[in-house]
Amino acid sequence: MEVVIVKDSATGGALIADAMADLLRRKPDALLGVATGSTPLPVYEALGATVRAGEVDASHARICQLDEYVGLPAGHPESYRSVVLRQVVEPLGLTENSFMGPDGTAQDVAAACAAYDQALADAGGVDLQLLGIGTDGHIGFNEPCSSLASRTRIKTLTQQTRRDNARFFNGLDEVPHHVITQGIGTILEARHLVLLATGEAKADAVALAVEGPLSALVPASALQLHPHATVVVDDAAASRLKLADYFRATYAAKPDWQGL
Ligand code: PGA
Repeated sequence: MEVVIVKDSATGGALIADAMADLLRRKPDALLGVATGSTPLPVYEALGATVRAGEVDASHARICQLDEYVGLPAGHPESYRSVVLRQVVEPLGLTENSFMGPDGTAQDVAAACAAYDQALADAGGVDLQLLGIGTDGHIGFNEPCSSLASRTRIKTLTQQTRRDNARFFNGLDEVPHHVITQGIGTILEARHLVLLATGEAKADAVALAVEGPLSALVPASALQLHPHATVVVDDAAASRLKLADYFRATYAAKPDWQGL
């Protein structure tokens, strides 16, 4: 696992957007797995600016969703489908044809989950999966004690996650209890995992994920199993890392050609 400590979220966003742009230059139809929430917004802003400046052609890029609320009506502005279309797909000049996600409105949720895992496999797998981390250590919506081998399935949100996400709704009561999320086993199949965490509120979860034992109690610790996992954190989110000085020195000495 590589840990890159940056001074702020804009720097982290630009670094990850550069890695995505490099990937699209090597593989124009790369499948980019994106995340929702506040943290990844600087990535999408930086990538959009790079595309608009003509520095990379994203017209063949494909975008896929990590997770989704169950039961929000189609077109609800806070369904993750709507969020990803608004924040990623449209700003990159793409359409819904370049986008895939699980169907949170399906009557048969289990079938929708299996169909999404199959669709990801049929698409050739995710090339780069961007991840956030919950204050409880979740990735996607794999809450603590999710199986480290899990596939896309329905999960129940913790109260902590529902409270964290209430800011996007008109209060806690409106936050769904159930979600569909790529499983940890599904996420681990992406070729490159990039987790971005910013702010003091994520410092404990980051330290447990990076330096703690591999544990289903901290789903993000599963990144320790991945051969190409990059954790990008700002100084605040890195503040509980015991090896912070080592991570800083390693990145400072990294040859440019290696990229992320
Ligand atoms: P946030 O969400 O970026 O809004 O903090 C992260 C997550 O829950 O994965």
